[in-house]
Amino acid sequence: MILLVGNWKMAPNKSTEAINLAKKISLSAKTYKKSINTVICAPYIHLPFLIKNIKTGISFGGQNTASSEDVAQTGFINSSMLKSYGATYCIVGHSEVRAHGETDEQILASTVSLLQKNIIPIVCVGEKERDGHGWYLSSVKEQVEKIFLGVPKNQIKKIVLAYEPVWAIGKNAAREATVAESREMIMFIRKVIADITDEKTAKNTNILYGGSVNEQNAFNFISEGGAQGLLVGRVSLDAKRFSSLMKSISLSQ
Ligand code: 13P
Repeated sequence: MILLVGNWKMAPNKSTEAINLAKKISLSAKTYKKSINTVICAPYIHLPFLIKNIKTGISFGGQNTASSEDVAQTGFINSSMLKSYGATYCIVGHSEVRAHGETDEQILASTVSLLQKNIIPIVCVGEKERDGHGWYLSSVKEQVEKIFLGVPKNQIKKIVLAYEPVWAIGKNAAREATVAESREMIMFIRKVIADITDEKTAKNTNILYGGSVNEQNAFNFISEGGAQGLLVGRVSLDAKRFSSLMKSISLSQ
């Protein structure tokens, strides 16, 4: 089963637009439900409306959660709130949030708080840039270790990881990652997980690829890039393109 996650980031502006878009995505998701599990991580403000209006085809998630339940955190929301909305997934450690100074410690604490509420964390890791000496490998290793060494052992298998090279994300991306780059890094991440846990856990960890994924390259990231799923930004805001993407990856199963 492929895990396909749409990250809507800070769009659309209105909940009515969000509901219309999600309805269209839900229709396509039902067509491919045998091979694809579709999740939409929407802005918090739309989540209650989406969850109330769309009951089939897709699950919903948040885009971050506070690292503690201390109420003195203006502008944040916590995992209990996500749970009470009915969210079943939540992205944590996205590079666009890390860029505002979020630390690995906070990302770990957010992950633990989601697990406590039985919400599946989608933990993003990825290097800012590639260098010729392989230092980028150590930065991703550190991010993965922080999570896998910190989460209670019996919860580890619930974690979803998303490898998102920062340089390949968004409309200002330097370039797309190649399938070989994705495969190499996902293999490397599994090795890091195996060293902390065991081979079986490493093999079973769900690892997604994200960064400029579209209807043309999606199939290859799944079939040859080592990813069991995808984390998609811009294309998840276009129902037609997202549906073509679903069609293409369903053929890899
Ligand atoms: P794009 O697909 O728009 O590059 O965004 C990727 C991403 O950041 C998903 O979390």
